[in-house]
Amino acid sequence: MRVDVYFGVQGLQPASVQSRLVAVIDVLRASTVAAIALANGARAVVPLESSDEVITRSKSFDRSEVKLAGERRMNPIPGFDFGNSPREFTREAVEGKTVLFTTTNGTGAFLAVQGARDVVVASYVNFTAVLTMMRAAVRAGTDVSIICAGREKEFALEDAGCAGRYVRQLTTRTPEMEMNDAARASELIAKRYGDRVDQLFAESAHGHALSEAGYAEDLVTCAQIDSHPIIPIYQDRQITKLGPERER
Ligand code: MLT
Repeated sequence: MRVDVYFGVQGLQPASVQSRLVAVIDVLRASTVAAIALANGARAVVPLESSDEVITRSKSFDRSEVKLAGERRMNPIPGFDFGNSPREFTREAVEGKTVLFTTTNGTGAFLAVQGARDVVVASYVNFTAVLTMMRAAVRAGTDVSIICAGREKEFALEDAGCAGRYVRQLTTRTPEMEMNDAARASELIAKRYGDRVDQLFAESAHGHALSEAGYAEDLVTCAQIDSHPIIPIYQDRQITKLGPERER
């Protein structure tokens, strides 16, 4: 069995995702937001490429059914209900709503993944829930690919650290697991930081930029391991929560 990590979607080949369980990670902050919004009762999170697409898509809903969300340069998009701060996606704000969502890097990563067996959204806040699904996939003979959204097409330390944490956990139980070099490098990063996710964020360029831009509290929310134990599944161009109503 294999677990492979990819830094960004640029180098993805069809074989990197075909018939695999694919986990998409953008811990700061898109994948964390998706997990928290769904855990707080959002009906679905729909990743879209641009703010124009969000506005166009919103016209096919009653306005009371949708929330428009996303960021550019880390800040909320004018006229939208929310930015990309996980603390905005409270139960009061999102329960029963469809969240139409566009971000600089994270949403593009979902849209780039075609042909996977399943696509899940991974982060620290739902780490173990997604790990459970990965372990089940490996037991059933399915390879795993972890795609780090990165930042502006570049390597992002925080995504690699989270990917490496998955690699470490998977290989502990299955030492014969094969992996690519990016998975090995991610594992080393995860080993270096351990549970000190706050330190990992503080030393990452995006974590630093978010703090400078006034979003330091978001880093605290994004670092809460297993605070929102759900499995978000991306299917039919939307992310919904795996649960009794949507079994695998
Ligand atoms: C992204 O998807 O580009 C990030 O979530 C950016 C951000 O932190 O706002």
